[in-house]
Amino acid sequence: MSFSIETYNLTRIFKSKQSGRINIVKALDNVNLKVSKGELFGLLGPNGAGKTTLIKILCTLLFPTSGKAYVNGYDILKDTSKIREIINVASGGETPGYGILTVKENLWFFSQLYGIPNRIAKERINKLLEIVDLKDKTNERLNKLSSGMKQKLNIARSLLNDPQILFLDEPTLGLDVISAHQIREYIKFWIKEKENRTVFLTTHYMAEAEELCDRVAIIDEGKIVACDTPENLKKMVSKGSSFEIEIAYINDEKINLLKSLKGIMALSFNHKIDENLTIIKIIVENESIISDVISMILSLKSKVISLKKIEPTLETVFMSLVGKGLEND
Ligand SMILES: Nc1ncnc2c1ncn2[C@@H]1O[C@H](COP(=O)(O)OP(=O)(O)OP(=O)(O)O)[C@@H](O)[C@H]1O
Ligand SMILES: [Mg+2]
Repeated sequence: MSFSIETYNLTRIFKSKQSGRINIVKALDNVNLKVSKGELFGLLGPNGAGKTTLIKILCTLLFPTSGKAYVNGYDILKDTSKIREIINVASGGETPGYGILTVKENLWFFSQLYGIPNRIAKERINKLLEIVDLKDKTNERLNKLSSGMKQKLNIARSLLNDPQILFLDEPTLGLDVISAHQIREYIKFWIKEKENRTVFLTTHYMAEAEELCDRVAIIDEGKIVACDTPENLKKMVSKGSSFEIEIAYINDEKINLLKSLKGIMALSFNHKIDENLTIIKIIVENESIISDVISMILSLKSKVISLKKIEPTLETVFMSLVGKGLEND
């Protein structure tokens, strides 16, 4: 089996000065991953987990502090130009070119940077504009595009050199539901269009990882805490029972009290301030603990609006591994 991506104890430490003190962050901590050719692989983790750092290292834009990594068998330290020929990268929220150039001019400009012959470049640009549904924006200036359109152009640009391995760093970050859905559809289409294409994407949207990825690695504070298919990851949490409870708003201090209740394996929460609600997801050791949870909610001067049992999702997997939700620090 030949791998698209392999990492061996990959570690990256950042040292920065903060008000005169040296701050050391282990952005990646002995990361070991193997991604097969043809795989749509997802790296799921909260803000600051190390996702972008890993993508930058694999794209040869950043050196690791220690460890090894290979892309299609090429060493990221020694074979940078070979790797750059066969990969490309698109990051969510990034402006995909020059604002005063049109969509087509931008793609043309990048095709020239990649050294693509004129005829092939023209054909490819037309095809890509169709694929990402930007045909009617061909002659629109980049700075007139919506953020969804910019991201579609970003993806089109990253496909110009017909990469074998596509790195996508938060490809649907900040997009509306429809644009995000379209982008996910292009990704699925692209990987199937030709054999042995690989996608390595990062996300902090659970549903995205679950919908798109053949396998998902969960990363937290630079460490890979689990790596498997979404189905197998979900089986891992079958030990506990998961519930979603909607209650009248309570502050974070009270949530911490609730979290400390015996029998709660993990808890994540979301406030809906406008509606005066807090939505709690919990994994409990056994279902009988729910009555203690409800008593405590009442003693915290809140009330239960709704309560339902939920099936394991990647979110509950993440909670059970890390002990908190993706969005909760
Ligand atoms: N150039 C840098 N200098 C110092 N620290 C850095 C640098 N780049 C990243 N870090 C730190 O490394 C850690 C990992 O950052 P990284 O950007 O890889 O996280 P991430 O998972 O991509 O987060 P996000 O979801 O917010 O994009 C963070 O603590 C971050 O502050
Ligand atoms: Mg990032």
